[in-house]
Amino acid sequence: MLTRKKFLEKCFLRCVLECYVVHGLKTWYAFYILGSGCTVHLDLALINFAQFDMKNEEDESLQVWTKQVFASGQKPTQVTAMYDNWSKTYEENLGEGKYRAHIIAVDEVVRLVPEEQRRQVRVLDVGAGTGWVGTELLKLGFKNLDALEPSEGMMNQLKSTGIYTLKYQEFLGLGQNTIPSDTYDVVVVSGAMCEGHVPVRGIDDMVRVTKPGGLVVISMRLEFLETVEEYRNRLEPHMNQLEQKGVWHKVARTVVPGYYCGKEGVVFSYRVV
Ligand SMILES: C[S@@+](CC[C@H](N)C(=O)[O-])C[C@H]1O[C@@H](n2cnc3c(N)ncnc32)[C@H](O)[C@@H]1O
Repeated sequence: MLTRKKFLEKCFLRCVLECYVVHGLKTWYAFYILGSGCTVHLDLALINFAQFDMKNEEDESLQVWTKQVFASGQKPTQVTAMYDNWSKTYEENLGEGKYRAHIIAVDEVVRLVPEEQRRQVRVLDVGAGTGWVGTELLKLGFKNLDALEPSEGMMNQLKSTGIYTLKYQEFLGLGQNTIPSDTYDVVVVSGAMCEGHVPVRGIDDMVRVTKPGGLVVISMRLEFLETVEEYRNRLEPHMNQLEQKGVWHKVARTVVPGYYCGKEGVVFSYRVV
């Protein structure tokens, strides 16, 4: 992972290299060129700083929560009980750019849904948490937002945003869904593909509730494809099998930096047939 310090060092070395090797400057004039070179490269550095605004490590209070919610072998109701407890400080703990799953997912939705359609499209936010995805989508012109969130505590937080119309306090992928089939133009899942969260068969539920021609967008931590047993050699193969069966087709699979505390994420987008 390129850190802010390494990035600045790279910029500085590029300046020096450009001045001394490319321009061949060894006189007082070199200082002028070096100065301008630095300005240009530091400007570029500033533009790229957004990706480094992320804290690279979990602080202690965050660790306490993530250890609990990602502990292996928990029942779904144990996971949601953790989120009930975490719900009031979730945004505070994950703020300051530590977590960008929702931004990454929303960027992908926005890339794929033209501005003129955003008012009409019906969106389901799966594992909606406190409603960060909806908050971002609303700013970008989406009005028709529903949420699925199994934790009562998180549900109370997202209700208080007033953003979502229908609010399903349910799990996805556990065979208990009441959401009607072929309902949504966009199903977006941000940060809910983790240890003990949405299982592989949750993908089938996502497809089921999406209208033909609709989109499923999933952002998740890249390493979870391998480190979460439920997903290892199962999640992506299942997604690929659905494509082979003609259920949906892949629009993009993009690995992105700065998903969570300096870790990479992956965002999948699929169009349902
Ligand atoms: C890390 S939070 C992400 C919340 C929000 N999407 C965000 O990006 O801030 C994961 C959420 O997934 C929910 N969740 C856990 N298991 C789930 C399941 N089987 N189906 C749907 N949501 C689930 C949790 O209750 C929690 O609110």
